[in-house]
Amino acid sequence: MDIYISVCLTVLLLALCPAFKATLDPCIPGAHKELHRGKYRGTLCPYNFDKPVCDKQIEEGWYKVQGLNGPLKMPDSFSKLDVCGTNLPIWLNGSHPTEDDGTVHREGCIPTATSSCFKVVNITIKLCPGFFVYYLTPTSSCPIAYCFGADEECPPFDPCDYEYEHSVIENENGDRSSMCTTDGDPYCDDKIENGWYAIHSSNGYQRISSNCPNYSSCKTKSPIWINGSIPTIQDDIVTNKACVRDDRSCCSHMFDVEMKNCSSYVVYKLSTVPCFQRYCTDDKTECPIANISSSGNSTENGVTSKYYQGMFIFLVESIMLLVQYIYQRN
Ligand SMILES: *[C@@H]1O[C@H](CO)[C@@H](O)[C@H](O)[C@H]1NC(C)=O
Ligand SMILES: *[C@@H]1O[C@H](CO)[C@@H](O)[C@H](O)[C@H]1NC(C)=O
Ligand SMILES: *[C@@H]1O[C@H](CO)[C@@H](O)[C@H](O)[C@H]1NC(C)=O
Ligand SMILES: *[C@@H]1O[C@H](CO)[C@@H](O)[C@H](O)[C@H]1NC(C)=O
Ligand SMILES: *[C@@H]1O[C@H](CO)[C@@H](O)[C@H](O)[C@H]1NC(C)=O
Ligand SMILES: *[C@@H]1O[C@H](CO)[C@@H](O)[C@H](O)[C@H]1NC(C)=O
Ligand SMILES: *[C@@H]1O[C@H](CO)[C@@H](O)[C@H](O)[C@H]1NC(C)=O
Repeated sequence: MDIYISVCLTVLLLALCPAFKATLDPCIPGAHKELHRGKYRGTLCPYNFDKPVCDKQIEEGWYKVQGLNGPLKMPDSFSKLDVCGTNLPIWLNGSHPTEDDGTVHREGCIPTATSSCFKVVNITIKLCPGFFVYYLTPTSSCPIAYCFGADEECPPFDPCDYEYEHSVIENENGDRSSMCTTDGDPYCDDKIENGWYAIHSSNGYQRISSNCPNYSSCKTKSPIWINGSIPTIQDDIVTNKACVRDDRSCCSHMFDVEMKNCSSYVVYKLSTVPCFQRYCTDDKTECPIANISSSGNSTENGVTSKYYQGMFIFLVESIMLLVQYIYQRN
């Protein structure tokens, strides 16, 4: 019975919600989102071939765009290709509204090599106190992205920046651990591309071992560890010695590894290594890491409590929307 009522309410509110949302002032916090990678969208920020800014995956909706030094505007003229962190930067062919203009409809231009306005996209804009909000739709493909910030440069390089500057090595079953003896085929990091990485397992972020692991552990033959202390948050990028452990020595071979403490995790500038070498982690858990689900409560209970939690958040959100709606009508 309880569940039946909740389901009915959910359906009713779901049906009404878009109607409330559509009439909401997009300036209200919560009625707009922050566009991803705002600080990489300036006209002085070059196209990043490896990780271009792309808006194919964004949700249609209202966005505010935050740069390094505050909110950003779309440039209202075409500068060139290969800027704004992307290949084809969308610029605004039109003017920004004043407060009196309210909400205005404008055209954004997708340029190509031969035309500054090869294709047009609709963009709705409103001036809010101190910033503009833009109603944006996902782009048809990559690398096309909305440009923001005339004459804005990219932020200084920071390997901690998850969005842009490092990748994550998923150590899902934790077999990089120095607790893991190598049964079966040894693995190696000969496929790893040179670059900045954080290492993550189902137990959270991990660090490269700072103790000499045993030969034939970390699911490889020659584990790689770092002979040096972990930098503090105050340190910038530090360079330490990575050691390759072989069957005779803890440090048969050495090379430099740059690293930085990003507070809750450490990032490393890693390079490809030959077989059978592999970066080894110092997690103290057993090997392999136990399944999370096997230690938790029954799935059924989990689902039910999650359902009620979701319902509660949804109800509160709906009531807030309703209040905002009534408030705006008056
Ligand atoms: C910009 O819009 C105006 C008015 O709609 C149009 O005349 C002009 O050709 C457009 N500019 C470009 C580069 O397409
Ligand atoms: C832009 O909006 C106009 C009407 O407001 C519509 O006719 C047109 O199809 C839209 N263009 C795109 C590309 O969605
Ligand atoms: C490393 O090897 C030694 C000697 O074989 C053993 O006692 C120790 O437990 C091993 N360490 C780990 C972490 O497996
Ligand atoms: C680790 O580095 C220190 C000093 O840099 C050195 O004295 C020590 O021998 C190194 N340890 C190993 C196992 O190579
Ligand atoms: C980063 O440094 C702080 C001390 O400044 C330390 O407490 C923290 O554990 C370090 N982070 C990691 C992931 O090691
Ligand atoms: C973890 O779960 C998977 C599938 O659910 C199972 O195949 C695997 O044996 C489990 N591992 C452990 C250590 O329990
Ligand atoms: C499951 O939940 C019950 C009550 O909420 C608790 O008493 C029990 O210890 C939990 N079991 C596990 C394996 O966490």
